[in-house]
Amino acid sequence: MTEEKLLEISDLSIDFATDEGVLNVVDRLSFEVNAGEILGLVGESGCGKSVTALTIMGLLPRPSGRVTRGRVTLSGLDLVDEGTDLGTVRGNRIAMVFQEPMTALNPVQRIGAQLIEAIALHDTGTPDLHLARAVELLARVGIPAPDQRLKEYPHQLSGGMRQRVMIAIALASRPELLIADEPTTALDVTIQAQILDLLLELQADYGLSIIFITHDLGVIAEIASRVVVMYAGRIAEEASTTDLFRNAHHPYTRGLIDSIPRMESVPKSVLPTIDGIVPTLADMPPGCRFRNRCGYASDVCVEEPAITRIGLRRFSCHHPLGMA
Ligand SMILES: Nc1ncnc2c1ncn2[C@@H]1O[C@H](COP(=O)(O)OP(=O)(O)OP(=O)(O)O)[C@@H](O)[C@H]1O
Ligand SMILES: [Mg+2]
Repeated sequence: MTEEKLLEISDLSIDFATDEGVLNVVDRLSFEVNAGEILGLVGESGCGKSVTALTIMGLLPRPSGRVTRGRVTLSGLDLVDEGTDLGTVRGNRIAMVFQEPMTALNPVQRIGAQLIEAIALHDTGTPDLHLARAVELLARVGIPAPDQRLKEYPHQLSGGMRQRVMIAIALASRPELLIADEPTTALDVTIQAQILDLLLELQADYGLSIIFITHDLGVIAEIASRVVVMYAGRIAEEASTTDLFRNAHHPYTRGLIDSIPRMESVPKSVLPTIDGIVPTLADMPPGCRFRNRCGYASDVCVEEPAITRIGLRRFSCHHPLGMA
C-alpha cells in the first residue's frame, strides 16, 4: 500500500544569527506526513520542534532565522521557495495551534469576532452565513451553548475551552494539515485527554493530517500513529508508534520511554531520567550529538552516525538497541 504524501521535509537545515554567531538549530531533517495521519514530533526542549513548525508555516523569524538547505513541499508545492504565493497555501491548507491560547487570542475582542474574522478570510458569503459557520465550528469543537459563548471574551473561558476556540479558528480555513505545537501542555490531564479526543475526531471526520508536537512520549502514545524523535536538531529515530514502544532502537528514545510516568507506577521522584544535559548549540560536539549522555557511547560515536533505514523505520546510531 502506498500512502499519499501530503507534506515532505527533505534535508532541511535552519540557522539563527545570534550574538554568539550563527547557530545551526535544525540539521538535515527529513520526514513526511501522509494524508490523513497524525504524526508525532517529539524531543526535549530546544531540539528544534517549534522552529521546524514555524518554517512549515512560513513564520520563521526573519532575518535572524534562515533555511540554509533542503526543501519543504506540500503536495509537491515548494514552501521554502520565495517564488510561490505562499499566503494562500499557508492560510488555507495549513493551520497551526499553539501551546498557550491566551497569548494567541486577542484579550479585548470577543471570541465570536475573532472566529468570524478567520472565517471571513476564507469564505465568501454574508455576515449571517459567517455567524452561522462560527456557531457550527464552536459546536464542532465541543463548546456548549456556542451562540452564547461567541459573545464572551477569552478570559471568561477555561484553558481547555480557549484551546477549543483556537482549534475552531484553525479549522476556519478547512485546512488539510494542522500543526499542533504542544497544544495540551498547559492543560491538566483530564482536559488534555479531551483535547486529544477532539483532534482524533477531527482527523477521522475530515481526513485531517496532524503534526502533533510534544516533549511527552506518553501523549504521543495516545494520539499519533507514527513518531519522529528529534535530538538537538537532528532526527534520532522514526517509527510507527507501536514499533517505537515495542522496540526502540535509539538509546535516546529508550531513555524517553523509560521516563514516561505510568499510572500504577512509582512516585515521580523515582522515575529514571536521562542523565546530563543537551549540549548548547554554540558548542555542539562533532559526531553523535547524544553521545555525552549515552550509556552505550564508544570511540566510533565521534563520527556522525549515518541514518539506517529498515523498512519504514529509521534511526541514527552506531549502537542501536534491540537489533537481535
Ligand atoms: N528567534 C530565535 N533566535 C535564536 N535562536 C532561536 C530562536 N528561536 C529558537 N531558537 C533556538 O533554536 C533552538 C530550537 O528551538 P525550538 O523553539 O524549535 O525548540 P523546541 O524543540 O520547540 O523546544 P520546546 O520544547 O521548549 O518548545 C533552541 O536552541 C532555541 O534557543
Ligand atoms: Mg517549542
